[in-house]
Formats: sequence, C-alpha cells, structure tokens
Amino acid sequence: MTRSVCLIGAGLIAQGWAILFANAGYRVHIHDPDSEAVAAAREAIRRNLVMLVEEGMIGSAPELSERISFLPTLKAAVADSSYVQESVTEKLEIKRAVFEELARMCGPEVILASSCSSIPPEDFMAGCSAPERCLIAHPFNPPHLVPLVELVVTRWTSLETLDRTRNLMLELGQRPVLVRRAVRGFVVNRLQAAVIHESLRLVADGVIDSSDLDLCMSQGLGLRWAFLGPFETMELNSAGGFRDYATKYGDIYRAILSDMGTGEAWNDASLDAVQRTRRDSPRDAQKMSARRLWRDRTLARLAKLLRGPHLGAVQTKSGGHQNSEPRI
Ligand SMILES: NC(=O)c1ccc[n+]([C@@H]2O[C@H](COP(=O)([O-])OP(=O)(O)OC[C@H]3O[C@@H](n4cnc5c(N)ncnc54)[C@H](O)[C@@H]3O)[C@@H](O)[C@H]2O)c1
Repeated sequence: MTRSVCLIGAGLIAQGWAILFANAGYRVHIHDPDSEAVAAAREAIRRNLVMLVEEGMIGSAPELSERISFLPTLKAAVADSSYVQESVTEKLEIKRAVFEELARMCGPEVILASSCSSIPPEDFMAGCSAPERCLIAHPFNPPHLVPLVELVVTRWTSLETLDRTRNLMLELGQRPVLVRRAVRGFVVNRLQAAVIHESLRLVADGVIDSSDLDLCMSQGLGLRWAFLGPFETMELNSAGGFRDYATKYGDIYRAILSDMGTGEAWNDASLDAVQRTRRDSPRDAQKMSARRLWRDRTLARLAKLLRGPHLGAVQTKSGGHQNSEPRI
C-alpha cells in the first residue's frame, strides 16, 4: 500500500517537502486555504521537477507530480497520513491554531512536525493532545536540495517520535541533527545570524561593498563550508589538528571578536548601505523566480557532486539508506 503524508501550507518550504516525499514514493496531500498560494506551488513544483529531470536527478516528472495533490480541507488532507509536516506562515497564533486542530483530527500515533524556524515549539504545541508526538523538523530552503534538518524536541517529545522522524528523514535522503534545547533560532540560524550581523557592519562601515562581501563567501569560505564544518576546517588548517589551530590562532580570533562588538546592525543606515550596492538584484517577481531556479539548479549540481547522481537516499547493499559521503 502506498504511504501518505500530509503537508500543511503550500509555500516555498512545503514545495520542497512535497518533492522530497514524492521522490521517496509517498503520496503527498497538501492543504493551503489560499488559492493563489496553491497555484504558485503547482507551478514552482512543476518547474523544479523539470529542472531535476534535466539534471538527471529524477527519472520522471509526471510520476512524481501524480503523487502530489492539493486538498481543499485540512480534514481531507490529514486522512490516511501517519506523518504531518506543518509549514504555515511563521506566526505564533497561526501555528497554535493549526496544531490544536491537527491534534484533534489525527490519532495519537500520527507525528505532528513543524517547519518552524524561530518560535519556541512549546509555545504552540502545549495545547495539543498527546504532545509526545510533536516536534520541530526544521528544514533549509529549498528542502529538496539542502539536506540538513534540525530536529528540535520539547520536554514532551517521546523517543519514539524522535526515532521515527529521524528514520523518515534518512529515508528521504535528508541529514537530521538533534537540537536538544530550543534555544532561540536553534543552531543554524544562530550561525547565520553571526555571519549576517558582521556582513552588515562591514558594508555599513565602508570596509567592503556588498557584492564583494558576497564573493568572500561564495568564492572563499563557502567553498570549504559546502562540505566541511568549522571544526573540521580548523582541524585541517594546522599541522597538529584542532587544538594546535586553536592554540596558534586563538589570540587572533579573540582580538577580532573584541573589535566586532555586538551593537545594532539591522538599522536603516546599514540596510540602505547594502541596498545601494545591490546593482544586480532581481527587480520583479519573474526575475526573482528565474534567479531562484538558477540557485536550485546550482544546488542540484552541487548535490550531485557531493552526494551522488540522484535525488534522495542511496540504497545500500543491506537494503538500508545511506546518504553520507565516504570517509577516508
Ligand atoms: N523560507 C525559508 O527560508 C524557511 C526555511 C526554513 C523554515 N521555514 C519555515 O517554514 C514555514 C513556512 O515558510 P515558507 O517560507 O514556506 O512561508 P510562505 O509564506 O512561503 O508559505 C506559508 C504558507 O502557509 C499558508 N497558510 C497560512 N495559514 C495557513 C493555515 N491555517 N492552513 C494552511 N496553510 C496556511 C499560506 O497561505 C502560505 O501559502 C515557516 O514556519 C518558516 O519559518 C522557512
């Protein structure tokens, strides 16, 4: 029997989840009350599937499309699903209402996961019956081409919920990590906040222009960070490994950090300074969506290089799933 999952919301994030689940053979039932959002989602999914076929990462776009349907009511969308991924607008009152409704409609064995990126999960999961089946599965945009998923648990999340979600993510080809405490922004957005904060300050202070700052990441740090974390990068940058690097360069980093400060960087002056130098920014919706497709195609090519030719998990000889790079 074909398994079904339910996606709530049809925005950017749900579109990627839909492709991932359909690619793994699931029937995908999506509900979004906004008909324009549904039309945009159909078109974005279609364009992405065509691109994935062109890149040789999936066999047939119609086969995946056929597994994805948009349903007019929440009730119809959750029927038969053992897993629900909520990806609605990031507003506490909306998430709380959706979760309470989902908890009423779904049996206690149905996992209720949220794509939420910034709201503490206990703030909207508290009112749910059987909150042990609730957790955050926070993806990155676009989820079908960026495999990381932060699994953020609450004090109620059961080990069984965590294990089932982790296994499901591995089955899709995703790379789940466990965030043990829901600190604000979880982990990745805290890392991202540090980089964006300093980027804004450097441009606002006239040290560099915004296009050159982007190059610092795309042609520099980002190339290593596409396949190494900061600790492994440090380890390989010094003959004696991580501690050797930290000892040698610790004082330099401390001096840089004392220089950076933590003051406000998201003010109009900083944002205007960046905007003034964004000469190549897409100016309308059509250019923006073409640029997004370019980003997705580039990510697809990177995924092929780093993780193999096909979208999703690689089947191992033992029948299990593996999507990690071989270690030397
Ligand atoms: N965009 C990102 O980079 C990103 C990355 C990771 C996680 N997230 C998170 O994923 C979630 C969705 O983000 P997005 O970028 O796809 O947003 P989006 O604005 O593109 O889409 C949200 C969709 O939710 C729908 N919606 C609102 N209320 C609803 C309801 N009651 N029932 C069903 N649908 C409803 C809206 O019509 C809209 O189509 C948010 O929680 C966001 O924080 C976003």
